[in-house]
Amino acid sequence: MNSNNPERIPRHVAIIMDGNGRWAEQRGMERAYGHVQGVESVRRVVKAATRWGIEYLTIYAFSTENWGRPTEEVSALMELLCENSMGEAPALQKAGVRMRFIGNIAGLSERVQKALRRSEAMTAGDTKLTLQIAVNYSSRWEITEMVRHLADEVKAGTLSSAEITPEVISNHLTTAGIPDPDLLIRTSGEHRLSNFLLWQLSYSELYFTDIFWPDFDEQAFDLAVKDFQNRQRRYGLLTK
Ligand code: IPE
Ligand code: IPE
Ligand code: MG
Repeated sequence: MNSNNPERIPRHVAIIMDGNGRWAEQRGMERAYGHVQGVESVRRVVKAATRWGIEYLTIYAFSTENWGRPTEEVSALMELLCENSMGEAPALQKAGVRMRFIGNIAGLSERVQKALRRSEAMTAGDTKLTLQIAVNYSSRWEITEMVRHLADEVKAGTLSSAEITPEVISNHLTTAGIPDPDLLIRTSGEHRLSNFLLWQLSYSELYFTDIFWPDFDEQAFDLAVKDFQNRQRRYGLLTK
C-alpha cells in the first residue's frame, strides 16, 4: 500500500482498447483499418507486460453490444480475431504467454469457436503471462450467468443461500481463479466502463488516456504502470 514504489508491479492489468474507428476515420480510412492497426498495439502491450513481469493481462476485444455495429465491421473483427489468435499462438507459446478467452464463446460461430479453442490449446503449458481476451463479453451477461448457476446449485441442494459469499461469486465468474485487476486502462478519452468486469474492478486503479488504441505503444503502457506505482490504494482504510 506504499505510494511512489517502483518495486510495485501490478499483477493484473485490464485494458479497454478503444478508439480504433476514430483513429482510422481521422485518416480518411475504413474503420476496419483501425482494427488492423489495433492488433499491433496488442502485440506491443503483450511485450511490455511480459517485460514488466505482469502475470495477467485482460483485454476487451468485442462486447455483447458490439453485435449492433454494421455487419461488415463485425465480420472484419471476427476475422481479425481468428487470424491473429491462430497466427500468433506459436510465438506467444514460445514467449510463455497463454491465451484464454472469456465471454459468451458459445454464442460465436462454430468457425470462430474452433479457432479460439485451438489457440488456447496451442498456448497451454508453461505460463509467464496469461492473456485473457474478452470476446462477446459483457459484465451483465457474466453476472446473469453466475446468478443462474448459483440458483441451480441452490435448487439442486448442493449449495445453501447462506453459503453464497463474495468468494463464491468470484469463483462463478469467467475470471474464476484469476486475481482482480490492479489497474484498468482505457484509451481514446472515454471515461466509462462499457460493461467490462464490473465486479472485478471494485478496487482497481483506473487510468484514462486520450491516445487512440492504434497509437498506444510500449512507452504509453509504461507511463500507465508508472502512474499506478504512484497511487495509494486504501481499500477503505486509513493511511498511517
Ligand atoms: C475499439 O475501437 C474496438 C472495439 C470496440 C471492437 P472502436 O471500434 O470502438 O473505435 P471508436 O471508439 O469507434 O473510435
Ligand atoms: C468497449 O468499447 C468495447 C471494447 C473495447 C471491445 P466501445 O467503443 O464498444 O464502448 P462505448 O460504445 O464507447 O461505450
Ligand atoms: Mg469505441
